[in-house]
Amino acid sequence: METTHAGTAFITGAGGGLGRAIAQALAARGVTVIAADIDLDQARETARLVETAGGQAHAVYVDVTDPASAAGAVEAGTTAAGPLTALVNNAAIYATIRRAPFDEITVDEWDRVMAVNLRGPWVMAVAARDALEDGGRIVNISSATVFSGSEQWAHYVASKAGASDSPVYLPANSAPAASPSTPWHPVSPSPKPVMRSSMTPTTTA
Ligand SMILES: NC(=O)c1ccc[n+]([C@@H]2O[C@H](COP(=O)([O-])OP(=O)(O)OC[C@H]3O[C@@H](n4cnc5c(N)ncnc54)[C@H](O)[C@@H]3O)[C@@H](O)[C@H]2O)c1
Repeated sequence: METTHAGTAFITGAGGGLGRAIAQALAARGVTVIAADIDLDQARETARLVETAGGQAHAVYVDVTDPASAAGAVEAGTTAAGPLTALVNNAAIYATIRRAPFDEITVDEWDRVMAVNLRGPWVMAVAARDALEDGGRIVNISSATVFSGSEQWAHYVASKAGASDSPVYLPANSAPAASPSTPWHPVSPSPKPVMRSSMTPTTTA
């Protein structure tokens, strides 16, 4: 475990799955982690695992669909760990999603997936914009299904396509602490890079 402080990352959905893995990987590189999740017990478990391995971590509750919750979580996280080097928009309805043909998805299911997967990254970007250090990064965890499609996942694919195009709502002047504009990194946890040429390229997770 490195001891040099390499910044602070606010990671949503860090209570398990890939979010926990991202937290552990960044912490192993000296990044202080703010593990945020709607499941606070699991976020605390992530923080415990990071600290047991010698890293720095703080756990906070967040519901990424709720601007007040997002603002409170960023405030709590930055009070504990200082300004942010990165916001990782990882939280999503993914493992628990009900797969169904497009005409059998209910309106409630559609709206819930959109609220978490598409509204969430925007809500978090707004909440974190003033807490991001100069040169800070916002990373959206996307999906290769945006390009491949998925027969039983119309709501999920649509939400990830939107979250991959988030620069459309992030003009340069919306991130005053970043310069010249906060680079936006959509990342897909797949073997195949899914960046568009107009986006800042980054590596796959
Ligand atoms: N696992 C894969 O193979 C895969 C493939 C492609 C993309 N992804 C993407 O990677 C990311 C992580 O995937 P995963 O498999 O770990 O997902 P997961 O479903 O296992 O975990 C999602 C996490 O988000 C949290 N969460 C849900 N709603 C929330 C809310 N409103 N506010 C805050 N936190 C909330 C959950 O509590 C959970 O900890 C997601 O964005 C997913 O779409 C995953």
